[in-house]
Amino acid sequence: MERQIYIPPGGPPRVTSPSAEIYAQMGEANIFAMLEDFYLELEKSSLRSMFPKDVVEASKKSAAFFVGLLGGPPLYHQRYGNPMMRARHMPFSIDEAARQEWLRCFDHVLAHAVEKYNFPAEHLAGFRAFLVGFSGWMVNTAPSETGEGNLELFGD
Ligand code: HEM
Repeated sequence: MERQIYIPPGGPPRVTSPSAEIYAQMGEANIFAMLEDFYLELEKSSLRSMFPKDVVEASKKSAAFFVGLLGGPPLYHQRYGNPMMRARHMPFSIDEAARQEWLRCFDHVLAHAVEKYNFPAEHLAGFRAFLVGFSGWMVNTAPSETGEGNLELFGD
């Protein structure tokens, strides 16, 4: 069956970028460590089949993006070019359930981010709000009451 691409109503989200103070306090190594733990959480999740075999290696590409996002040097742009995040997520069937699972994995990591990676506590809420808003724009598959929409996620 031909794939139906879902476009979130309202278009790209009007999200506030996370504070640059986050990178200033954490530094690059802590951000890479946080993303590595996030990918290890994804590895244990129902989204596992979407991600490459070596999740630790894959986490480095995402970490490069988050370094720039959190106020550091634009590593992702320098290494991989224009992020075009919605387009880069298009090969994967991402529905609302997948988004919620992705956010759950991030929440798991953020719960200990202050102690573990020196994340500034006062910026946790703002960063989380960014993730909620921006992740909505990565959804490209409509929800399905029959669960059919999830077939691609879990593989054949
Ligand atoms: C809505 C839930 C989301 C799901 C299910 C999801 C899933 C994925 C998958 C399967 C990949 C490819 C494997 C990989 O390279 O790691 C990927 C790549 C990536 N994702 Fe997401 N993602 C979501 C939301 C987000 C959000 C909100 C961001 C940024 C704030 C993000 C940032 C990235 C980056 C930077 C990459 C690497 C892109 C590249 O290959 O160059 N993702 N994501």
